[in-house]
Amino acid sequence: MASGKELVVSAIENGTVIDHIPADALFKVVKILGLENEGRQMTFGVNLESRRMGRKGIIKVAERFFEPAEINRIALVAPHAKLNIIRNYEVTEKREVSLPDSIVGIVKCMNPKCITNHQAVMPKFEVVSRDPVSLRCHYCEKITDQEHMEYLND
Ligand code: CTP
Ligand code: ZN
Repeated sequence: MASGKELVVSAIENGTVIDHIPADALFKVVKILGLENEGRQMTFGVNLESRRMGRKGIIKVAERFFEPAEINRIALVAPHAKLNIIRNYEVTEKREVSLPDSIVGIVKCMNPKCITNHQAVMPKFEVVSRDPVSLRCHYCEKITDQEHMEYLND
């Protein structure tokens, strides 16, 4: 129940609520999922108070349900995101995200000489560590770590 202090973002009838997104990763999540091109109704909350995270973000997408392989990619930027599947206004399922074993697209290889930085080759990495994240490039084998992570089309 909403207490007097809570910010209220309206409930949705059917769809997915992605909660506990770090405040500064909200738009990266939108981009990773390609939601800006889908024409769905979406509601965002940013800088909401969270006991666990300080400030968090939330995304509600109406009429959209995600396969694990699709949604798990957001673990790169929102490792503690919680999914709530809503049907008929009820939360019917809660899921967590977990980083997949490989990442295609999304992240740039930090090796300036890598082919992916010079030709139209989609970056592809093997996840070699999860916390903190580190990725090994499929093409040049160099490691891109969390600290140096840059995103495609940023
Ligand atoms: N929600 C929604 N529309 C609904 C039902 C729920 O947008 N019809 C949202 C709520 O606003 C909340 C999230 O889905 O952000 C999870 O709902 P619920 O499990 O009821 O909230 P909490 O118990 O606070 O969840 P948690 O403790 O997992 O954060
Ligand atoms: Zn590379």
